[in-house]
Amino acid sequence: MSPEILSPERPFSLWNIHGLFGSGAVLLSETNSTHAYMKEHIRELPPGTVVVADTQNQGRGRHERTWISPRGKNLYFNTLIPLDSIPQKNYSGFTQITALTLASVLEESGVKTSVKWPNDLLWNEHKICGILSELFFMNHRPLLSMGIGLNVNSEAPDYQDLDRKAASLSMILSKKLNREVLLNQILRKIEHSLREFAENGFTPWLEAWKKMENFAGREARVIRGETVLTGTIAGINDDGSLQFKTPDEKIISVYSGDLEI
Ligand code: BTN
Repeated sequence: MSPEILSPERPFSLWNIHGLFGSGAVLLSETNSTHAYMKEHIRELPPGTVVVADTQNQGRGRHERTWISPRGKNLYFNTLIPLDSIPQKNYSGFTQITALTLASVLEESGVKTSVKWPNDLLWNEHKICGILSELFFMNHRPLLSMGIGLNVNSEAPDYQDLDRKAASLSMILSKKLNREVLLNQILRKIEHSLREFAENGFTPWLEAWKKMENFAGREARVIRGETVLTGTIAGINDDGSLQFKTPDEKIISVYSGDLEI
């Protein structure tokens, strides 16, 4: 863990955040959701821009779930990623490699997480980080808005009304972390990973992905809109899609959806 990450945090208004690929950052003391903000302002924001909020009053997760976003405790941000020259079949890989990249940053900070397909970070089955992605086309240019919520310094009472298990880095480490330092570390790593992914696709990530326990053998449900599939997690294909065993012992590949274990 770098010593700066344990240094006392500066007030949010003084944060110096560098966006991706030389772009800037928008800092919002409060917003409904950085994801909604990005969507609303996508025409004005250069690719690479990062939108960060100190709190969200309508933070949302996948399937319209609420994302608990207490002020001054966690990281809530969206990045706008240009996808020019990336084959469309690789778009979903971006969120998966971002999840792997986040897992490696957290491991450097002393917290070993598992990535649950496609992109949830869990510690001991407690959710610690979630990613929400949405694809946009601006003048026919594809752009991915990737919203990341990372529980950094939140405490158990923040999750008392939640029906799922959640944890934060400080609950695990018993230390408060400097969110500004952590966010810049994350953004630099994501930038590096995205460049690598654009050049070499998912293959170099496969080993890292397969190292994650991935819950193989666990009974699970794949939720795709209104459709729910019940079965067993069998593994991960070379393109990052999920191998899922249906009750009639057929192995199918799942390219998108949500996995509930
Ligand atoms: C999930 O696992 O369900 C995805 C959670 C994504 C939460 C982040 S926080 C920043 C951005 N703004 C939002 O309202 N949601 C995403």
